[in-house]
Amino acid sequence: MSAPGRRYQAKIFTAGFAGRRPSIPCAPHALERAAEARMSRKAWAYVAGGAGLERTMAANCSAFSRYSLLQRMLRDVSTRQLSVELFGRTLPLPILLAPIGVLELAHRQGDLAAARGAAAAGLPFIVSSQASHPLEAIAGAAGDAPRWFQLYWSAKDEVAASFLRRAEAAGYEAIVVTLDTTQLGWRPRDLDGGYLPFLRGRGMANYISDPVFSALPPQPINPAERPKLGLRALPAVAELLRHWPRGTLSALASPQAVMQAVQQFIAIYSRPDLTWADLPRLREMTRLPILVKGILHPEDARKALDAGMDGIIVSNHGGRQVDGAVASLDMLPAVAEAVAGRVPVLFDGGIRTGADVIKALSLGARAVLLGRPYVYGLALGGEEGVLAVIQALAGELDLTLALMGCQRLDELDRSVLAPQFR
Ligand code: LAC
Repeated sequence: MSAPGRRYQAKIFTAGFAGRRPSIPCAPHALERAAEARMSRKAWAYVAGGAGLERTMAANCSAFSRYSLLQRMLRDVSTRQLSVELFGRTLPLPILLAPIGVLELAHRQGDLAAARGAAAAGLPFIVSSQASHPLEAIAGAAGDAPRWFQLYWSAKDEVAASFLRRAEAAGYEAIVVTLDTTQLGWRPRDLDGGYLPFLRGRGMANYISDPVFSALPPQPINPAERPKLGLRALPAVAELLRHWPRGTLSALASPQAVMQAVQQFIAIYSRPDLTWADLPRLREMTRLPILVKGILHPEDARKALDAGMDGIIVSNHGGRQVDGAVASLDMLPAVAEAVAGRVPVLFDGGIRTGADVIKALSLGARAVLLGRPYVYGLALGGEEGVLAVIQALAGELDLTLALMGCQRLDELDRSVLAPQFR
């Protein structure tokens, strides 16, 4: 996708001349509002919400406003090079789709549609452990496009190892292990809706399709976490049965069996006892490159390198975990400095525009993860909606790079920022 900006811009304007406006808004706020109008209240709360007062969620975006770009003139920017090299692959853009669970809340085809949208743009889709389809089916949808797998390291090592084996067999090219969600954060929107998608059997496809998970002996279940079945639970049970993934119908023989599988998941998904000493064990479990996601402190980046990790993802989980946590962008320079080019540093948190991508790359990221905006595109237009969101971001990135006076991404460093940020 070389120099896509002007092409995409022209396509939109010529369609506009013929009376057609983009069905997926280019303006980030309009995109968000349109997706909110399309999604159910509970789905919107889960996708768009964050921890506490959502201060970190807001800070992730507003951190970008604190940095200013300083463009240069008359430097022949008639051609642009937007590709980037990551783990032996050349990506057409410095963008990956972030792992996001329970995409069925946005669109019936969920991860399958997201994988197709990413593949149409040639970008890696990072498939969530909490996907709505088994990772093998998503790999099939991605076709030849690169795909990575995000691992929640559950309380059962053997389940994690099984996920990694399956990811390798299905052609995934890297593992992203999320460190910041050993348990879910305090998310008032979900709490006030009384809605946790997993309890309704959503976002569990990788678990219930897993032979090791399915063969686990019954786990001790905290009675406080066992839902009471009664008349008022009927809508929840109906949702659970309606959304239980096909191909595992044997469990449907009895609602109790489905409830039991959900309880097994609840019993093992959280793993707060992990320490740095556990990482070498993960390293042994796979031959794929492993990136650690959720790094904010430069000292943690150093520890990850010591543990043999192959990449760092600076992230605060889109502000979903610790309200009041520092904006990801504010820690990117220090983490990049600690890593000193030894492994790729990726950035996640608050990317809404092409100019945001340029700022993140200038501050030390090799590539960025796009999160909520692609889910909004998914909600509005399935696979085509995801592609439209990527194309708009790529278009703006391309035009902004040119207008900055740059031909290539590797020209982006602090020298393109206004003097007070260098
Ligand atoms: C979340 C987990 C599933 O943020 O990543 O909800």
